Amino acid sequence: MEKVVSLCKRRGFVYPASEIYGGLNSCWDFGPLGVELKRNVRDAWWRAMVRERDDVVGLDSAILQHPRVWEASGHVANFSDPLVDCTKCKKRFRADHIGVPYQSANGAWLHPETGAPMEESEARAMLATKKCPECEGALTPPRRFNLMFQTFLGAVVEDAARVYLRPETAQGIFTNFVNVLNSSRKKPPFGIAQIGKSFRNEITPGNFVFRTREFEQGEMEFFVPPADGEKWFDYWRKERFAWYSKFGVRPSKLRLRDHAKDELAHYSSGCSDVEYQYPFGWGELEGIANRTDFDLKQHAQHSGKDLSFFDEESKTRYVPHVIEPAAGIDRAALTFIVDAYEETTVKDEARVVLHLHPKIAPVTAAVFPLVKKEGMPEKASEIEKELRANFATVIEANASIGKRYARQDEIGTPFCITVDGQTMQDDTVTLRDRDTLIQDRVKTGELRAALDAKIRDWKRVDSVG
Ligand code: GAP
Repeated sequence: MEKVVSLCKRRGFVYPASEIYGGLNSCWDFGPLGVELKRNVRDAWWRAMVRERDDVVGLDSAILQHPRVWEASGHVANFSDPLVDCTKCKKRFRADHIGVPYQSANGAWLHPETGAPMEESEARAMLATKKCPECEGALTPPRRFNLMFQTFLGAVVEDAARVYLRPETAQGIFTNFVNVLNSSRKKPPFGIAQIGKSFRNEITPGNFVFRTREFEQGEMEFFVPPADGEKWFDYWRKERFAWYSKFGVRPSKLRLRDHAKDELAHYSSGCSDVEYQYPFGWGELEGIANRTDFDLKQHAQHSGKDLSFFDEESKTRYVPHVIEPAAGIDRAALTFIVDAYEETTVKDEARVVLHLHPKIAPVTAAVFPLVKKEGMPEKASEIEKELRANFATVIEANASIGKRYARQDEIGTPFCITVDGQTMQDDTVTLRDRDTLIQDRVKTGELRAALDAKIRDWKRVDSVG
């Protein structure tokens, strides 16, 4: 993980935010390569979830919503973690992470390991034995800490103007359910997808961009007839699991884990996580939940608006059930990088390669003039400009050809094109494949077709050399 973090900083994928002021805890900025990679992750998600389907449409709802949205959704009452503070070293911990019993949102005492209800006397006795895991200082009693960030709308700081930064993008989809029904002529089963920033005042952020307080989500709410909930839940679990390996993540590092009943969020009747085996252990990459009719019913009740659907064919009215695949864009970007990272040796030379899928890699093709003379820089520039329309390209003329290959390997560029002496005679270039290290000679006029074919047929190949 340290090597990945260092590569990300050195090569311009991810920098610590506000670094010149000493940084801001767990806030990160995406640099020139990171921003391209993240854009590719978003595009790949959007294509799979919206463009390549005819049963899902897109949305981009506001980050600030009416405060009552979060009352209806249950976030004001339930979206909290139990925390304790050390009275000596002032460190803050999640109670259940350090074996401290805690109270649920409705006041019941719960066991830190199992989440099962406990008698208050038993919980208090257990509490009395717990000291800070860092300095053994006394801990405060656990209290619930709401994870939503608050801010104020307009100039007046009063309760009426208090709003929240959204902790998930999903609610903007539920509140627009009827708008989309009426304007898009879609009917269940159909979905509404959106990508956008969400904010949570996480108690224990960390592991680089894995858990941060400001992050991007790709969420899709799929509305189905109530009887079809389980069928679609199963469909989306499989579909989303397959998406990550389609974009190059090794299947041996992925698993689909079904939640136990006591793990389920307040709104869901079933949930499966796509998990990845990070260097710090298995972690959630995406959650697929069966949210039933919870959200639409809550919003119907709180807003007084009818959020049901009338099926003209069967002449029945119902509140659709919702299946939700909810992915993290930053977390997916991190996973693609971590999973792609490989250190090998080729002919006794150390080599660092990111085996990124060509559709995820920040640069698709780098073009090199072998030397800075004999018309090669001009020819390379001409080729690079031609390819720009269809691929993310760069041109690089400095350093030895070996160094230039090494630099591109390290940022995951799948293809390098070299203009050499022969190019000037027969208009062919070498096309080098990052993973197989095979170099083909290709006519410049056929480069686009050659790249298209290689991208289409790409399969991950590791450890060559
Ligand atoms: N609407 C459902 C929902 O938000 P979630 O499991 O809390 O479900 C979905 O979040 C995904 O969003 C997670 O699987 C993860 O990829 C990403 N995510 C959640 N919290 C995050 C955080 N603090 N930092 C980075 N990504 C986060």
